[in-house]
Amino acid sequence: MPAVEIRDIRKTFRDFLGRRRVHALDGLSFSVAAGEVYGLLGPNGSGKTTTFKIALGLLRPDAGSVSVLGHAPGTLAARRATGYLPEDSALLPFLTARESLRLHGALAGLSRAESRRKTDELLEKVGLKQAADRRVLGFSKGMQRRLGIAGVLIGDPQVFILDEPTSGLDPLGAVEMKHLIADLRKQGKAVLISSHLLGELENVCDRVAFLNQGRLISAGTLEELLREKETHELRVSPADPDAIMALEALAKERGLKVVRSKAPMRSLEAFYLSVLGKDQAK
Ligand SMILES: Nc1ncnc2c1ncn2[C@@H]1O[C@H](COP(=O)(O)OP(=O)(O)O)[C@@H](O)[C@H]1O
Ligand SMILES: [Mg+2]
Repeated sequence: MPAVEIRDIRKTFRDFLGRRRVHALDGLSFSVAAGEVYGLLGPNGSGKTTTFKIALGLLRPDAGSVSVLGHAPGTLAARRATGYLPEDSALLPFLTARESLRLHGALAGLSRAESRRKTDELLEKVGLKQAADRRVLGFSKGMQRRLGIAGVLIGDPQVFILDEPTSGLDPLGAVEMKHLIADLRKQGKAVLISSHLLGELENVCDRVAFLNQGRLISAGTLEELLREKETHELRVSPADPDAIMALEALAKERGLKVVRSKAPMRSLEAFYLSVLGKDQAK
């Protein structure tokens, strides 16, 4: 049984006169297994948040069906099993980070002692230990995002639905979020995440789906979608010019076209992390 199964859902939003305005979802189907990270990619307005709200039972589809661990969305069993990080973290501004997490713990049914213990553990985990006793009111978008994810983690759900989890995070925060998501996969959780930024979901998702105007235009594993099978990359070290010339000559002799032969560039993200001394992290 898939952790989340979405079958042929449709949703049209109407204006106040009941006229059809937007076909937000136009026959969307996919499923997410336990231990899998599934990414919904698509431009603003493509239907990602609407899909999540339907999976959570916050919106009803006009047609199609959804199940979460075999339960209908919105039922107690489905809600208990699901943790949701909304697009805009809904936090109570006058609580401190610590109070906010303890409240989440209580709402998730933890005992006081357990909630306290997990709050301390999670404040550390999401890098908010220093800010634990500050009011959420003054938090940056990135700090709110970190607190939001901690609030989802405290209930230890089986299914995570994270709407744009890396939005507002600096590159280091985004990398930490990716580690966190990889951890969830290892624990056998099902994770459904969205992003409108293409790079964000790379190296995190097992499978991705591209949404456009409420339709799935392409889906598959990153391997299926991205692997360039018609070329081959070979990295050698050290970068000895004579040896490299000899290798290129050999390739040409064997009838291969040398498409590219130069020192590879690090990504800006890798560079940034090395400047911060965080590239060895985890
Ligand atoms: N409550 C609503 N009322 C009317 N239109 C809506 C509502 N929610 C979303 N939409 C419309 O549905 C489409 C999909 O929105 P959404 O699911 O939020 O996209 P995404 O999360 O991919 O940016 C958009 O055109 C949006 O304007
Ligand atoms: Mg959205």
